[in-house]
Amino acid sequence: MISVTLIGAGNVAQHLYKAFSACKEVHINQWHNRRLEQLQMFKNDVDIVDDITLLKEADIYIIAISDDAVAKLSEQLPFSDKLVVHTSGSVNLHHLDKKNRRGVFYPLQTFSKDAELNFSDVPICIEVEHKADYHVLKDLANAITSPYHRVNSPQRAALHLAAVFVNNFTNQLYRVAHEITESEGVDFNILKPLIKETAKKLDTLSPYMAQTGPAKRNDKKTIKKHLASLDKDIHKDIYKLLTKAIKETHGTSASSAFKKPNSK
Ligand SMILES: NC(=O)c1ccc[n+]([C@@H]2O[C@H](COP(=O)([O-])OP(=O)(O)OC[C@H]3O[C@@H](n4cnc5c(N)ncnc54)[C@H](OP(=O)(O)O)[C@@H]3O)[C@@H](O)[C@H]2O)c1
Repeated sequence: MISVTLIGAGNVAQHLYKAFSACKEVHINQWHNRRLEQLQMFKNDVDIVDDITLLKEADIYIIAISDDAVAKLSEQLPFSDKLVVHTSGSVNLHHLDKKNRRGVFYPLQTFSKDAELNFSDVPICIEVEHKADYHVLKDLANAITSPYHRVNSPQRAALHLAAVFVNNFTNQLYRVAHEITESEGVDFNILKPLIKETAKKLDTLSPYMAQTGPAKRNDKKTIKKHLASLDKDIHKDIYKLLTKAIKETHGTSASSAFKKPNSK
């Protein structure tokens, strides 16, 4: 049995609480948040606490709070030589106070309190200072059926940066598409099979091989027509920049005619 103390009450902490509560290999010792009202609804199921000095003994302390607050909170922990991890893709391992054994348990997924999530679809990126702690965190990932990967700091930073492209930027493009369909009174849902197929294709093809469309084909008339149809300058800018990037990747722009991409 792994005993865990959860710190934070936001999107990630709430999903972790649900996942840990559902598995018999993990016991949630305590759940701390600076504002106790966020945890009141769980008070009959777990020991909730807002006073950090009252934290009890546990195998792992998981800090799932805003990135900027992680370092200070780790300094306030009233113990030493324990395994303390944060859940951030971008916070440096060394920002955790060195009085404890430091680690990262970064769930590479998008979490919202109200959106259901299956942890078997949540890869956990594990980083540790001490080799033995990797096995503890690996067991924790196993307990909630998550795939896990041992990464170093530059690799975690690269994954976090890449995640912004595949998640946040892609989602903003969905938002643009939503505005475009709405402007003509057509249902955005009609695009959903295309959205799903675009992601599904990556099971068998690299992003390079999967690309299609007017920029890759260099269909100049279509590109011109699309640009003329866009009302907002920012949408025109996005269209132009992504078209340029696709052309460069696929060798359809003058400047990249003889260049080959590093990975296909
Ligand atoms: N959301 C995601 O998709 C996602 C994915 C992977 C990793 N992460 C990482 O997981 C961590 C938590 O993210 P989240 O989305 O769960 O955050 P969130 O929903 O915004 O919740 C933030 C939590 O941090 C606490 N907090 C904020 N400032 C604090 C301070 N100065 N001192 C103590 N506690 C403070 C808040 O307490 P109050 O309730 O009292 O305000 C709240 O419990 C972050 O490191 C984030 O990078 C997030």
